[in-house]
Amino acid sequence: MKRAVITGASSGIGKAFAERLARDGYDVVLVARRRERLESLATVLRDTYGRRVDVLSADLTSPSDLTLVEQNIRDDSSLELLVNNAGFGKIGAYGDLDLDVEDEEIRLNILALVRLTHAAIPGMVARHRGAIINVSSIVAFLPVPFLATYSATKAYVNSFTEAIHEELKGTGVKIQALCPGRTHTEFHERAGINTKNHPSKGMEPESVVNASLRALQRDKVICVPGITNRVTACIMSLLPRALLRKAAAPRMRKLTAKIARP
Ligand SMILES: NC(=O)c1ccc[n+]([C@@H]2O[C@H](COP(=O)([O-])OP(=O)(O)OC[C@H]3O[C@@H](n4cnc5c(N)ncnc54)[C@H](OP(=O)(O)O)[C@@H]3O)[C@@H](O)[C@H]2O)c1
Repeated sequence: MKRAVITGASSGIGKAFAERLARDGYDVVLVARRRERLESLATVLRDTYGRRVDVLSADLTSPSDLTLVEQNIRDDSSLELLVNNAGFGKIGAYGDLDLDVEDEEIRLNILALVRLTHAAIPGMVARHRGAIINVSSIVAFLPVPFLATYSATKAYVNSFTEAIHEELKGTGVKIQALCPGRTHTEFHERAGINTKNHPSKGMEPESVVNASLRALQRDKVICVPGITNRVTACIMSLLPRALLRKAAAPRMRKLTAKIARP
């Protein structure tokens, strides 16, 4: 028996991970706040793949809920894969954004990921097997104006993951920072991003998951899914940082334009 815990499994990339891993023979634990969504996904996965599916409805920015999920991970002797996927961003000039929401973003994108990674590693190392996928973003490679907190949280995730990757050498445990570009999920609507002005066509979450699992097999620590995203990441690594962030500012400002609602 092998089990995967997926945070943010109620939509988007997390839901695609849950579907794919159940299909690949994993029992899955689905974590997010929207219980009904998780329950209906659980029913589909049980009926379709005959796997054991557990639902953990938790707000990972709440210390008590986070402790419960940590405990669940620590106690799970069959845990093979942890996907730290839950995350969000808010677009806007930093001074105009709601500070409590920025605080919540840091707690979810960084603190929850850091704590759940810590809960998973000792058991995996003791069993000489297992893997952690930390969902980061292509914005991790650049300080992004109008997404200052979000891009900084994802830079943290990359740095943290790359460092632990070296620590885990020889233990049989893998870790990856998955850095998608635009992906068709609920992310942009939640972030307030006007996708009409978005320069990228975007990818489907299933393709992102596919690329991540392929890269994990090769123990690749940074996975940028999709050729267009890889070229973009490569250009970003070659050009001077000051030039890049200057060029990014007017483009990002366009994405802050209010979305007209019917
Ligand atoms: N879509 C993109 O273009 C893109 C690009 C790069 C990176 N990413 C990253 O991909 C990851 C997944 O995002 P997505 O694109 O799939 O967006 P999404 O569809 O909005 O999914 C976000 C998931 O996180 C969960 N979540 C949010 N706040 C939570 C909280 N406080 N506690 C527990 N779960 C919470 C949501 O579930 P509930 O609301 O039910 O709690 C949902 O399942 C994020 O880390 C995001 O930063 C996305």
